[in-house]
Amino acid sequence: MIVISKVNELEKAVEAFRIEGKSIGLVPTMGALHEGHLSLVNRCRRENDVVVVSVFVNPTQFNNKEDLRTYPRTEEADKALLAEAGCDIVFMPTVEEVYPEPDTRVFNLGPVAEVMEGAMRPGHFNGVAQIVSKLFMMVKPDRAYFGEKDFQQIAVIKQMVKSEGFKLQIVPCPIVREADGLAKSSRNVRLSPEARQTAPNIYRTLRESIDYAKSHTVAETQKFVTDTINSYPDMEVEYYQIVDGITLMPVNDWNETNYIVGCVTVYCGGVRLIDNIAYKK
Ligand code: PAF
Repeated sequence: MIVISKVNELEKAVEAFRIEGKSIGLVPTMGALHEGHLSLVNRCRRENDVVVVSVFVNPTQFNNKEDLRTYPRTEEADKALLAEAGCDIVFMPTVEEVYPEPDTRVFNLGPVAEVMEGAMRPGHFNGVAQIVSKLFMMVKPDRAYFGEKDFQQIAVIKQMVKSEGFKLQIVPCPIVREADGLAKSSRNVRLSPEARQTAPNIYRTLRESIDYAKSHTVAETQKFVTDTINSYPDMEVEYYQIVDGITLMPVNDWNETNYIVGCVTVYCGGVRLIDNIAYKK
């Protein structure tokens, strides 16, 4: 595995593989790697000749300075995990290397970026589009892999790919969960022992709501999930929205569309966690 920190070296290394006719897969990450990331790397390994993983805590997508400052950073452990997973190139640049000048680009991300996370975290998705588009320009991958825990992020990136005219396949990968159902996340390490015990109730409630939905309306199901999660100590739902899985627009009736997903954000002991579940797919 080659560890690269400079953009021109990354471009040269990938170009050498491309000249040999090799397919290139990219897994963008912010490090603090866990099994969720490794499932992306494994899938990328199976589907491409060359696996490139970026490890970069992207400052432009954080709308909360404290969240950026305390975001877990575990570079040495990340390198060891990636080497073991068969990664060919790991790109670990500094902020100055990626942003020699402030990135002032504003992307046309459309309505998918305005709801839910877009409404709660102004500027977040534009920052994601900035870094992901830079990585796509540097690596020019054939395929890029993203986890479905960040369900909305995938829709936003697909929109960015369309509006910027990138030629690659976006590959969504299923959520990886702990044995008790909690979605794996780099932020889980911030949970206190008490919050860690309560956090699995998020997914437990989402699962229960699948049955509940069979005899209740969308609005009732939304209320059921919100009230149930809020009834646990130290848990507060920021939003629970049941949306069309493609457009991310709110759904009012179960028969309205064929792909329906519920997206939740919960403050659990002060840590912001997200999760989602499909009602129809
Ligand atoms: O999902 C993430 O970890 C980040 O948003 C991404 C896609 C690596 C961009 O910084």
